[in-house]
Amino acid sequence: MTDTPQQTSHPVPPDERTWWKESVVYQIYPRSFADSDGDGIGDIPGIIERLDHVADLGVDVIWLNPVYESPQRDNGYDISDYRSIHHEYGTMADWEELLAQVHERDMRLVMDLVVNHTSVDHEWFQRSRRGDPEYEDYYIWREAEGEGPPNNWESFFGGSAWSYDEVREAYYLHLYDESQPDLNWRNPAVRQDIFDTMAWWLEKDIDGFRMDVINLLSKAPGLPDGDPDSEWVGAEHFVDGPRILDYLAAMDEQVLSNYDILTVGEMPRLTVETAREYAGEDGPLDMAFHFQHTKLDYDGDERWSVGDWDLPELKEITRRWHDGLADDGWNALYWENHDQPRVVSRYGDPEEYHRESATLLGTYILTRSGTPYVYQGQELGMTNAQWEDRESLADVDARRTARELLDSEQHDSFEDIADIVGYRSRDNARTPMQWDDSEHAGFTEGDPWLQVNSNYEQINVAAAREGDSVREYYRSLIDLRTEYDAFVYGTYSDLHPDHERLAAYTQTLEHPDGRVSERMLSVLNFSDTTASVDLSTTVENADLLLSNYDRDTIGPTSDHEPYEARIYRLE
Ligand code: NOJ
Repeated sequence: MTDTPQQTSHPVPPDERTWWKESVVYQIYPRSFADSDGDGIGDIPGIIERLDHVADLGVDVIWLNPVYESPQRDNGYDISDYRSIHHEYGTMADWEELLAQVHERDMRLVMDLVVNHTSVDHEWFQRSRRGDPEYEDYYIWREAEGEGPPNNWESFFGGSAWSYDEVREAYYLHLYDESQPDLNWRNPAVRQDIFDTMAWWLEKDIDGFRMDVINLLSKAPGLPDGDPDSEWVGAEHFVDGPRILDYLAAMDEQVLSNYDILTVGEMPRLTVETAREYAGEDGPLDMAFHFQHTKLDYDGDERWSVGDWDLPELKEITRRWHDGLADDGWNALYWENHDQPRVVSRYGDPEEYHRESATLLGTYILTRSGTPYVYQGQELGMTNAQWEDRESLADVDARRTARELLDSEQHDSFEDIADIVGYRSRDNARTPMQWDDSEHAGFTEGDPWLQVNSNYEQINVAAAREGDSVREYYRSLIDLRTEYDAFVYGTYSDLHPDHERLAAYTQTLEHPDGRVSERMLSVLNFSDTTASVDLSTTVENADLLLSNYDRDTIGPTSDHEPYEARIYRLE
């Protein structure tokens, strides 16, 4: 019997396939990945030496955090020269070698683009503060009038968003640290300089950009005061500002559209509606990171707090984003990055159920449609570290907050604030990568710039090469994702939205005429006790494809062990 052409046709025709939709991205934080020269700071030759670890996981793309020249106040998010490599990380020749080695392994390289602000050390700022006519309008300056700064906007890191510059005798705006002045995107010369810089990197054959706080570029004219009760005062005047879509459309037209690349915007306060404008079919970008699921463990809106979180809320966010972007847009799926505490310490149980909860959380981002991003060490289940005192912290944000909390006189000692600052600090994500159980976890032969997590003897890459490690499980998940298009192009459906402990969802891939081609079911118990949900009818005749417990039979049992994840193929 021969199939009709319609029956054999694939539900995703070749011209609708897109490499960045089918990719899994691995994020490398260069300062903490691998140090090749013993100065305690990760570098590019170190990354090259360890590239096989990344390639072996089966990922397709590497996103490299900023490696440009920088005084490193904010670990590279304060750039002093967009076209050179930070000297502690290596040379341009090292970077070119990295790119070649990445491509040789059939992976792609996405670079960080940080163009909302530069470092105060950037030549543009130096010339701007001296009033050089070519650069005087490159940043957002205001004369001092009356008492205090020009408006009440706050820096994301706390305090006023304005600092007074003695040289220019004026205030400049910085939505982040005072060493990170905001560029004036209203100035066409700034836009042109940035677009030229982007093209310069793209001509080197990179494969895309992750765009830092890219929806903050446009500030409301007149820079009006913000709502003083808001969590980030002024945000309504610079998040998704009036000209942002024009700027990004111009960037797309002049630069991005000339290349076959991946573009992902990091966008504070992104909603499904704005995501469609930025990264829908007609939007300038491919996808965007939102933060909604990373705030579940806040107490209210307050970032420096720790609250309880619940699963129905996570599922509601997941549903909203899947349904909202199903016909227009694409999801970027992630738990961790260099700004987030380790996920197993937030939404898992690193003590009793380390492996189970780390693999379960991995399952959640690797079995849904969208492009998953895995942050270095996540594939080992790396955990938050212990912070003894303020000096042990390196993050500009955490150190400032710790100082503020201690100065506030509500807290006597670091011990009082360790639970909050220690839990939230971005340093948790930035402790050195744990390669083996030798001193400093094999990260460096010198003194690491940031302490190594004390659990490195148990949690490390060498140990994870064994059979049932978190890393091996991630590898299997990535393999599975490559094998079944339903995980990439399928439609997400939540079977039990209100279940307090279990997530059960399908990804269904259909032919254009409605016939089901592939249907996958994932069942995840997010709790540390056995939980039940009746799936007996759903899993009849199903294949169990992967489980983080040692199971090889289907068993339509309804009991699920603590932090158990199972993935079935239903059709
Ligand atoms: C977001 C980056 O991810 C973070 O690390 C940085 O501090 C801010 N943007 C400012 O660039």
